[in-house]
Amino acid sequence: MKETMICEICETNLTNVSTTNFFETINDNCMLGLGDCLDLMQEIPDDSVNLTVTSPPYDNLRTYNGNISHWGEHVWKSVIKELFRLTKQGGVVAWIVGDATIKGSETGTSFKQALWAMDCGFKLHDTMIWNKPSFPKTHKRYEQSFEYMFVFAKGNIVTFNGIRDKFNKKHGKLIHSSTRQPDGTTLKCSGYKKKLISEYGLRTNVWETPSCKSNTERTGHPAQFSEKIAQDHIISWSNECDTILDPFMGSGTTGVACKNLNRKFIGIEKDKGYFEIAEKRIKETPPRCNHDLEKIIAHWNL
Ligand SMILES: C[S@@+](CC[C@H](N)C(=O)[O-])C[C@H]1O[C@@H](n2cnc3c(N)ncnc32)[C@H](O)[C@@H]1O
Repeated sequence: MKETMICEICETNLTNVSTTNFFETINDNCMLGLGDCLDLMQEIPDDSVNLTVTSPPYDNLRTYNGNISHWGEHVWKSVIKELFRLTKQGGVVAWIVGDATIKGSETGTSFKQALWAMDCGFKLHDTMIWNKPSFPKTHKRYEQSFEYMFVFAKGNIVTFNGIRDKFNKKHGKLIHSSTRQPDGTTLKCSGYKKKLISEYGLRTNVWETPSCKSNTERTGHPAQFSEKIAQDHIISWSNECDTILDPFMGSGTTGVACKNLNRKFIGIEKDKGYFEIAEKRIKETPPRCNHDLEKIIAHWNL
């Protein structure tokens, strides 16, 4: 909605300023916007966001109180283009998504989005999998237990804090390295230093993570992702005090993880009800000191 307005302080003509889309500053580290992300992202300067962790609507799988009516290729294409503009050089977008199955066929929208991101200039750094131990069952086909987590990079990634929580059964033994040759044979590496296998190694790009914890995390939002998923992406692709965006904020899960990990957060949500859930949830998350942070990470990695 556009209204004729003059600023009372500087007398600037604000006629073309939208009065329905605005950012609300929660504190120095958090700005939340109620409105369409395509409008609000225009307020975010070029090359300013270190990391986006987001999950857009999956085709038309949920109705989101009617907010899905305009959803489609024309929207997600513009959103991804905007994400490229506002992401810093070396920054990352973690795009968590799945497809609807219509008349027996998956839509393939996830892949179309990944290919479009590459057309916009992103590198497809990784196609990761979020595998969930529990999932809804149809018994009509192999049960769908995973979602895609595309990692788009603007140029070469500047921050990678790889999470090392994969238990090595052979820990304590000597490393014997070998490389696979083009003809398929293996060649023992010469001159390698004698090193012991550590207890934990770098995890793979398939993350086994439960959906959100039912009692402590679950809100009224119909498609919430887990705090742990948001947390692990934030740890992997950003550092403390970096700026993180979620243009499809929903119940504010990325915002909660940002507060826990001492990152700045910009969240945008179209639906007023979900926006209010997110705002309350983020405000009620206590600020953390570094000691708490260690406890949170240790708790999740148990
Ligand atoms: C998959 S959900 C995100 C859930 C979120 N990750 C969480 O943990 O709660 C997608 C959200 O995008 C919102 N949405 C859809 N279109 C939008 C748009 N154009 N601008 C902003 N939000 C939008 C929906 O209302 C919905 O809450």
